[in-house]
Amino acid sequence: MAAVESPFIRTYKRVVDEFDTSPKRTPKNLRQFLERLDRQALRTAPVRHPLYFRAGLPDAKRILDVGCGSGSVTRDLCLLTNGHVTAVDLDNAMVKAARSTLRGVPNVTLRRADAHKLPFEDETFDLVVANLLFMWAERPQEAADELARVARRGGRVLASMEPDYGGKVHYPENPIVDQVFQGRMIERKGGDPHAGRKLRTYFVRAGLETEVGLSNPRIPSCDEDLASYEVEKGFYHRALADAGLGPAEVQAWEREYVASLREGTQLNYLPLFYALGTKK
Ligand SMILES: C[S@@+](CC[C@H](N)C(=O)[O-])C[C@H]1O[C@@H](n2cnc3c(N)ncnc32)[C@H](O)[C@@H]1O
Repeated sequence: MAAVESPFIRTYKRVVDEFDTSPKRTPKNLRQFLERLDRQALRTAPVRHPLYFRAGLPDAKRILDVGCGSGSVTRDLCLLTNGHVTAVDLDNAMVKAARSTLRGVPNVTLRRADAHKLPFEDETFDLVVANLLFMWAERPQEAADELARVARRGGRVLASMEPDYGGKVHYPENPIVDQVFQGRMIERKGGDPHAGRKLRTYFVRAGLETEVGLSNPRIPSCDEDLASYEVEKGFYHRALADAGLGPAEVQAWEREYVASLREGTQLNYLPLFYALGTKK
């Protein structure tokens, strides 16, 4: 006898099978993505900045930022150092956006470059930084090898923040919506949802003396999560609509989610790993 599929299973399959992760970006999508990177950079400054100090950013003379995106994280690097920052990204649209973000910043040079084949001599930089690169790099070990190659002996390589969706915990749960925001969505966009746990392997195999840890050991409060949700609401709505949820389903989820935040019972934690390497 054929199994009867419940409406829940049908919706679940729709979410899993139809999530549209088309890489094509309209100008509006690009603007939304850049704005999200800017907000993310602001929110994550408290977890990244202490790592910059530990990696010796203030006194480094030559710094490389690989996968600079919108340039917001690069701006932090420029402000926190007396040295000069070279920032690169594979995507021309990102380099252009970063140029605009960093207009008037005196200690930065921007160019398009691929992390897998950096256009720099061996041992050029005192500090090489990458934020959220390994999750998206096509061949992350090659990227790590390149970052290590262009660092000088005794210089540092820092992957300041790489998530690992396998370690994401969240309660109360919503089996349909949780599917959208867990690793599968990243995978379908071509990213690695488990980049965090692999950083040690990448860095050690690149010949770096390596320390790994959590960039964000603290669990955000419900007030923080609510404030962040208010700002990112558009992103959540778009992601859920793309995943095939109808307006009524999105509203039902939102009601439950916001109620649990207001009650102070919701818990969300996504581990972000860092790796700090020293070139031997
Ligand atoms: C999630 S964004 C992070 C941007 C920025 N580091 C930040 O934290 O705001 C990842 C960036 O890495 C870039 N990227 C991906 N693969 C790359 C590669 N092979 N070489 C250089 N940049 C790359 C993407 O174009 C994108 O701008």
